[in-house]
Amino acid sequence: MSATSEPTGRPAATSPNDGPSVPIHLRPAREADIPVLVPLLLRLKRLNEEFDPLLKVREDAEAQASRLLHNDLADPKAIVLAAEGVGPDKDKVVGFVRATVRERAFYVPQHEGVILDIYLLPLYRRRGVGEYLLREISSALKAKGAGVVTAEFPAQNEIASRFYQKRGFRPITAIHARSL
Ligand SMILES: CC(C)(COP(=O)(O)OP(=O)(O)OC[C@H]1O[C@@H](n2cnc3c(N)ncnc32)[C@H](O)[C@@H]1OP(=O)(O)O)[C@@H](O)C(=O)NCCC(=O)NCCS
Repeated sequence: MSATSEPTGRPAATSPNDGPSVPIHLRPAREADIPVLVPLLLRLKRLNEEFDPLLKVREDAEAQASRLLHNDLADPKAIVLAAEGVGPDKDKVVGFVRATVRERAFYVPQHEGVILDIYLLPLYRRRGVGEYLLREISSALKAKGAGVVTAEFPAQNEIASRFYQKRGFRPITAIHARSL
């Protein structure tokens, strides 16, 4: 689909196995990545704004993104994985996933691994890289004690809904909004 103004990069071929059809190097993000991760996180938030006017991006979003990522890297409950590209994108961060472990006050399993943001540059999409990121972050969340994995994303973001639905996720809670 091309519901947004982002350029699409759908490749011709898909992977015959269950790994990504492009080699991607996934590793924990570090402080030095933050200047590269900030624009990627902003691209994601601007994409969400295109899907829903109630998600209008703040003017200080860049500073917020930087603050948030710094906090994540210092937080033992948080995980940020950076995906490095290949070929001309070698050593360049082309995507990321960020998540955290939250306690569930009333339900079991008591700890939930929440995927907060997942983003790949358009050229890297639809080749199984997203699934690889999802698999790796799920393992990392499990290793931190999560017994269930959830994903937070805007309901109007069709890419995210289809991506997660295809991977067996289903809605368990919903946040509804109206302007005041
Ligand atoms: C979500 C994202 C990380 C998935 O990564 P990916 O490498 O494209 O995912 P995979 O190749 O593993 O899986 C592809 C599936 O994702 C969904 N998908 C990906 N791009 C899509 C698009 N443009 N339109 C609709 N569904 C899409 C589909 O279910 C697709 O399966 P299909 O090709 O059989 O239709 C990536 O598409 C992305 O960065 N999207 C923009 C950011 C975003 O919306 N993030 C989620 C909100 S937090």
